[in-house]
Amino acid sequence: MTRAEPEADERMGEALDALLGWYARAGVSTFASDRPRDRFAETEAETERRRLARPASAAQGVAPGAGPQPQGSAALPERRAAAPPPRPRAPSIALRSDEALASEAREAAAKATNLAELQALLADFTGCGLKATAKNLVFGNGAETAEIMFVGEAPGRDEDLAGEPFVGRSGRLLDRMLAAIAIKREDVRVTNTVPWRPPGNRTPTPAETETCLPFTLRHIELVNPRFLICLGSPSTKALLRSEEGIMRLRGRWASVTLPNGVAVPTMAMLHPAYLLRQPSQKRLAWRDLLSLRQKLDTKE
Ligand code: URA
Repeated sequence: MTRAEPEADERMGEALDALLGWYARAGVSTFASDRPRDRFAETEAETERRRLARPASAAQGVAPGAGPQPQGSAALPERRAAAPPPRPRAPSIALRSDEALASEAREAAAKATNLAELQALLADFTGCGLKATAKNLVFGNGAETAEIMFVGEAPGRDEDLAGEPFVGRSGRLLDRMLAAIAIKREDVRVTNTVPWRPPGNRTPTPAETETCLPFTLRHIELVNPRFLICLGSPSTKALLRSEEGIMRLRGRWASVTLPNGVAVPTMAMLHPAYLLRQPSQKRLAWRDLLSLRQKLDTKE
């Protein structure tokens, strides 16, 4: 055996690792078979099978009732009702540029004059691919005119099933964090940077976040909170427009200017899911919570 062979094996192993990692990030969690299936070939075979099974007149494109009529009988009425006109479909996401999707989202979001309208407009929005794999839209919950609004990252499995943000383990920790500074969960407003669960709980891509951002900003405008809290890095990056790391940004008060011109005092905090993985960092979250409590207690 030459030296090149083990190196080639190693490279092949690395390539396979990278491929499996890519599948996992794309949300593939189960392999149903160890052989690939050519779905395109299967679809073509099925189309051909159906074509052959159709009656000859239909296969040749002859209209029903247009063939020779049985002797002595009146022309038979058309038996099949006319097919309903096809529903107009939005062009696929792949055909629209990121800028076109964002401007579509801005236009739609700007139409909403209240949260119910915004939720309906978001439910109709077809510009974010996450909608295709999610079970439910996770719009937001809590007080509609809250003093504090939290923006998290993205719904997880529990949230996707329930259609409500922060109802799983992270949500329960968020509730306890709020209770520690005497705030009730139902008194705050909670939403996410994207309203659909990314497959396999991956981080939403910057393009997905940017596409959905106009809805998030309109959500904030309609709630009009006194304070905004970004939970975790994606939400901080999207709202504070900063590339700095969450560890540097957390705990510092900044300001987010909304499209309507209102500036909202905003602070980034560590995400509850991160705190569940790194309990020693709860001391940082505690500092940030105290800072929020202090701001609330300062009447401006
Ligand atoms: N994590 C989030 O960022 N949002 C949720 O709604 C749940 C978990």
